[in-house]
Amino acid sequence: MKTVLASALLLGLFGCSVAFPIPVPFPFPDPYHAFCGTIWTFATPCAEVSTTIVNEIQALSPEYMLISATPLTIKANHTSPDGISVQDITFSLSPTILTGGCRVSAKSISLGITSPLDDGLNYCNLYKLLSASGLTLSPGFMEMTNELACLGYGLSKCDI
Ligand SMILES: *[C@@H]1O[C@H](CO)[C@@H](O)[C@H](O)[C@H]1NC(C)=O
Repeated sequence: MKTVLASALLLGLFGCSVAFPIPVPFPFPDPYHAFCGTIWTFATPCAEVSTTIVNEIQALSPEYMLISATPLTIKANHTSPDGISVQDITFSLSPTILTGGCRVSAKSISLGITSPLDDGLNYCNLYKLLSASGLTLSPGFMEMTNELACLGYGLSKCDI
């Protein structure tokens, strides 16, 4: 258990460096923003993927709230069941020219001061939309991320 906590803390530090320089010395009093970034690919065109994601965000309201949607960028937020912590979510879509598919860069970041141990919250925020909308079953679906880019990835068991 100690090992898991320590490595999650380390992952948190690296995850943090995406948004912030690594704070020194450790431990640090600074606000901490837990973060997950992941890339998804699909064989379907971005227009279709985008519509599916936007529809799912709206279907899962008010847990998820759509902030804005353009053909290549979707912004939303997610409020945790405690009603206190909020995470900002951004999807950036790019068409894959040769295959006619779509590559999506998905990010979720905790707002305010949060613990580095987010239990995979930010990862699960993204994965829940994907899974609930059926996009995980879509042709050509692949997910690319790792523990450095996505806090809690590999440790997290999403409650979906
Ligand atoms: C989440 O987004 C909605 C829609 O834009 C907005 O009304 C709400 O204030 C946001 N929540 C937070 C806590 O930022």
